[in-house]
Amino acid sequence: MKVLGVESSCDETGVAVVDASASGVPRLLAHALHSQIDMHQAYGGVVPELASRDHIRRVVPLARQVLGEAGLVLGDIDVIAYTRGPGLAGALLVGAGVACSLAAALGKPVLGVHHLEGHLLSPFLASDPPEFPFVALLVSGGHTQLMRVDDVGHYELLGETIDDAAGEAFDKSAKLMGLGYPGGPALARLAAFGDPSAFTLPRPLLHSGNLDFSFAGLKTAVRTQLLRLSNVCEQDKANLAAATQEAIVEVLVRKSLAALKQTGLKRLVVAGGVGANALLRSQLNAECAKREVRVHYPELSLCTDNGAMIALAAAMRLQRGAKPALNQGFDVRPRWELAAA
Ligand code: KG4
Ligand code: ZN
Repeated sequence: MKVLGVESSCDETGVAVVDASASGVPRLLAHALHSQIDMHQAYGGVVPELASRDHIRRVVPLARQVLGEAGLVLGDIDVIAYTRGPGLAGALLVGAGVACSLAAALGKPVLGVHHLEGHLLSPFLASDPPEFPFVALLVSGGHTQLMRVDDVGHYELLGETIDDAAGEAFDKSAKLMGLGYPGGPALARLAAFGDPSAFTLPRPLLHSGNLDFSFAGLKTAVRTQLLRLSNVCEQDKANLAAATQEAIVEVLVRKSLAALKQTGLKRLVVAGGVGANALLRSQLNAECAKREVRVHYPELSLCTDNGAMIALAAAMRLQRGAKPALNQGFDVRPRWELAAA
């Protein structure tokens, strides 16, 4: 069974094809991605209308490219999957429109996929895929959640952010430091030259006794520190970047360990853009090794948004009996809880 996946929820257009047999992890045949980062950079963040228009330009050429790389033609595709939500409404409509029109023209069924489910399952495309059940730390630009995952579609929310997401904390702090967009990778690069102990930043909700997060206060603390300095030199910025990264990572690591303890599970999956962060990976690896917990990450290239995770999530749902729809009028869900997917 060949599944074509289309991702267009935010600022990356991704298309991919996976091949799935009745059981076993689906195999990625080809994937292609166009990032809109250069286009949005001038505005310091994603401009939704520009994002939608660019998805329109990119999606069909990308689909042609992946089919070519996989040595397939459209008629070989069995199911077409697309990101149904959450995300930017206009951007989602492009992927949904293309996927559903293509499916109608080909007489093939479609399946709408939850974007976070894509992230959550993306480590299954890595060379050392996880096994169920596991604790998942989902850290993307808009979400920070800890989940207990028993199987595809069996998600129990253990805790989540009550305000900003971890990725947002990276992005907003980076913006305050003038590091541009997207801030996470830029802040992480600068942090390598800084001394985190030069600034004391809060670890919000670290001792809350539950698995919720809060990062809005951290961004405010970064702003306060910047205002306190009369002249911000490059070393100050690097130190503040290092301190910010350390604060975010410490909270993510401590809460993940608490979730493992609470569930008694010995497996952790880290997914979403912030999962690319090297400090987060090294600290989680070290702490989990001490506790004999296995940690799984997606391939670095599949940490941020991509079509492969959407095709994969659809294929894994189909393996478990999901019924794709024929002639579906397309709909999107800009706001959508994963536990309700
Ligand atoms: O999962 P993702 O690509 O998009 C969403 O679904 O939101 O995540 C994007 C987020 C952004 O906030 C970005 O700054 C962050 O992931 N990010 C990083 C790194 N790479 C991407 N944050 C910290 N360190 C990184 N290396
Ligand atoms: Zn994402």
